[in-house]
Amino acid sequence: DRSLKIAPSILSANFAELGAECRAIEDQGCDWVHLDVMDGHFVPNITFGPPVVKALRPHVRTVMDVHLMIAPVDPYISAFADAGADVITVHAEAGPHLDRTLQAVRAAGCRTGVALNPATPASAIVHVLDRIDLVCVMTVNPGFGGQSFISAMLPKIAELRSMIGDRPIHIEVDGGITPETAPDAFAAGADVLVAGSAVFKGGTAAQPTVYGENIAAL
Ligand code: DX5
Ligand code: ZN
Repeated sequence: DRSLKIAPSILSANFAELGAECRAIEDQGCDWVHLDVMDGHFVPNITFGPPVVKALRPHVRTVMDVHLMIAPVDPYISAFADAGADVITVHAEAGPHLDRTLQAVRAAGCRTGVALNPATPASAIVHVLDRIDLVCVMTVNPGFGGQSFISAMLPKIAELRSMIGDRPIHIEVDGGITPETAPDAFAAGADVLVAGSAVFKGGTAAQPTVYGENIAAL
C-alpha cells in the first residue's frame, strides 16, 4: 500500500507571507510542506536559510521537508535540525562523503533524504539504503520553479522502487509535477509529489480554496 502524499514547495509561495501561505496549504489538505534551500553555488539561485525555517516552524503542523541544495552541506545540518526540520534531504552530488553526511542528519534527530540530480544514476544510493528514509528524484535541474518535467527520469524512479524492495523508504519526485505528469510519476513508483507552481498558481493565502483545488487535481 503506497499512500500518495502531496508536498507543496513554498518556493512558489508569496515570500512576503510565508507563514500564512504554510497555514493555507495545510488547511487545504497538503500532507507535507517542502522547503527549498538554495545557496547560489550548488544551484544558480538563492532562497533562505535556517532562520526562515525556524520562523516557519510554528506555522507548520505536518512535516517540514527541507531540501538542501547547498554545498558544502555538513556545516549546516545542525542549524537546520535545530530550526525544526523533520526531514533533511541532501544532494548526493553535494560532497564526497554522503554516508558521513547521512549519519550526521540522523544524529541530529532528523529523517534522512538523498536527492539525485537528473544526471545522477539510481546506483548512487545503493550503499546508503540502510541510512535513508527518502530518496528524491529531481525531475528538473534544480534551481528554479516552473520548469518542465524530464520524463527520462521515469525509468530511474522504477529502478529505485525495485532497489528499495520492502524497505520503508519514500520516493519523492521534485520538479515539473502537474496533473498531467503526476500519474506517470506515481505509476513509476513515487509516493511523495513535490509541486510548487502547480499548487500555488491562481491562489493567495487570502483566497486559499484555489490551493485546495490544485492539490485535489494532483
Ligand atoms: C527545484 C526545487 C523544486 C521546485 C519545484 O529546484 O527543488 O522543489 O520548487 O517547482 P515546480 O513544481 O514549479 O517545478
Ligand atoms: Zn525541492
